[in-house]
Amino acid sequence: MSPPAATPLSTRVALTLAVLLGLGAAALALTPAHVSPRTRASELAVLAAGALLLVAAGTWLVRRVLAPLDRLPAQLDHARSSEPLERLPTTAPGLAGRLAHSVNDLLDRIEESRRENAVAALAAQEAERSRIAQNLHDGVGQSLTAVLLELTALGADAPPELQDRLERLREGVRASLDEVRSVARHLRPHVLEDLGLRSALAALTNDLFGTGDVLVRRGVLPGLPPLGDELELVVFRVAQEALTNVARHAEARTVEMHLGLQGDLLELTVADDGRGTAGRAEGVGTRGMRERAALVGGTLEVAARDGGGTRVTLRVPLPSRTEPTP
Ligand SMILES: Nc1ncnc2c1ncn2[C@@H]1O[C@H](COP(=O)(O)OP(=O)(O)OP(=O)(O)O)[C@@H](O)[C@H]1O
Ligand SMILES: [Mg+2]
Repeated sequence: MSPPAATPLSTRVALTLAVLLGLGAAALALTPAHVSPRTRASELAVLAAGALLLVAAGTWLVRRVLAPLDRLPAQLDHARSSEPLERLPTTAPGLAGRLAHSVNDLLDRIEESRRENAVAALAAQEAERSRIAQNLHDGVGQSLTAVLLELTALGADAPPELQDRLERLREGVRASLDEVRSVARHLRPHVLEDLGLRSALAALTNDLFGTGDVLVRRGVLPGLPPLGDELELVVFRVAQEALTNVARHAEARTVEMHLGLQGDLLELTVADDGRGTAGRAEGVGTRGMRERAALVGGTLEVAARDGGGTRVTLRVPLPSRTEPTP
């Protein structure tokens, strides 16, 4: 709600000065004070005192009118340095209140356009990933499959002394095919679209830790309310980055991933018992997780886990529809 229009600032300053000058003139006209054609020392003292009084009163009144402008840069700096942008207090009367309202409207619009930009950037990123995944699948993936079939056909006619070499070649091609599929799956969580978040998270942990000796504990609360495509993708991408970090950096023996509810919040945690992140600067991966969390109005915390290791927690307010998934 915008505040009522008030007298313009320039008019208020001019009025203040006019009133003061009027008071000075009235003092000369209505009091015994006067100035002789040849000004005497006593008159000079009265004039100086009067002038001082006028300057002091003028300064005080003009400052009162302009003080909100003086405070504004500091308040704006503070608002700009906070995340999300902090709103200015709007309780002050007059100019200060009106300025605060206008600035807050501006901050609303800045935040809205930031959100729109972030959504557009992430949507573009997902579209690009999807395109690359499709190309990998349809291009390299199909060619490797064709080579594999050709090698198998060749094996049927080849003499026994070549069978070993052909088998090694087939193994190599199979491994490359698996790798291409795994990269494509990482780029585009097909399984998220096809089977839902629970299976996508299971596939993720299997992909990353299936063959290693990291013990995985996974828990997804049954009957979670429907989250919607955008939120599901955010949860999946955050889990993907956090779990990839565990696989790459943590040197952990166990990793636990939980998706559940904490009051009104959806909470995803990925905790490992590895070497921890102390002293490591946050990288593009963690910043990406934060941006995705902010995109759906949530927060992301990376903290040391009790007993060693790292705990990544994503908390997001639940969407308003809350019927459980059938
Ligand atoms: N679970 C973890 N355990 C130990 N160290 C970690 C963990 N997660 C992140 N780190 C450290 O924090 C650094 C930054 O990770 P982040 O994911 O933010 O950046 P990144 O750009 O994705 O880098 P990277 O691709 O190396 O993960 C990593 O290089 C690593 O040293
Ligand atoms: Mg990373």
